[in-house]
Amino acid sequence: MYPPMKLSLDELRLRTLGAADADLLVEATGEESAAALWGPRPAGPYSSTDARTALRAWDPESAGPVSFGVLRGSRLVAAVGLMPSGERVAELAYWVRPGQRRQGIGSRAVTAVTRWAHEPAGVRRVWLEINPDNEASLRLARRSGYRFEERLPRHCRCWTVDDPERDGWHDCLIWVHDLDAR
Ligand SMILES: CC(C)(COP(=O)(O)OP(=O)(O)OC[C@H]1O[C@@H](n2cnc3c(N)ncnc32)[C@H](O)[C@@H]1OP(=O)(O)O)[C@@H](O)C(=O)NCCC(=O)NCCS
Repeated sequence: MYPPMKLSLDELRLRTLGAADADLLVEATGEESAAALWGPRPAGPYSSTDARTALRAWDPESAGPVSFGVLRGSRLVAAVGLMPSGERVAELAYWVRPGQRRQGIGSRAVTAVTRWAHEPAGVRRVWLEINPDNEASLRLARRSGYRFEERLPRHCRCWTVDDPERDGWHDCLIWVHDLDAR
């Protein structure tokens, strides 16, 4: 379990998201047509049920994944997730709501959450899994101080169809940020 997060980045506030934040997810995903942070489904806007289900799965009181909201005023503009994957190791994921992209919000939030993950949260190694076609994510990773580690062939599910038997798999690029690299 990670400690609760509360950070300020100029006009942005970052904080741990919990069960009471479902309405924020519904509002923020309203214009989305693809997957948001909390999983491949739903692709597109979240209903209240979707949002409550997502926040139960990303319960900050558990030893599992936790999500952090990036708020400007009362609006959720982005979210970053931390998913423990071993002793002091965690995968990081990120999403910026459509309409707020390409303003530096993603890289500012990822830089801040990565620093927080190292200290005070105590994660030694933070890693990203990126689709080679996702130019925005690759550039964000580089800008946020991550380094490319390896390419895993056909490692990630495409989620183009719900049936796993009929779905495709694509290569994934692993990028890492080690505590020593701060
Ligand atoms: C990836 C994502 C989080 C980027 O967030 P953002 O707030 O737009 O990113 P920033 O504004 O901080 O930009 C970071 C870098 O990416 C570049 N970038 C952003 N969007 C881009 C795009 N559509 N195409 C090419 N480059 C892009 C920026 O120019 C910047 O590059 P630079 O550092 O070389 O100048 C956002 O596009 C998103 O939410 N995408 C959908 C979810 C997703 O793909 N998550 C990552 C899964 S691995």
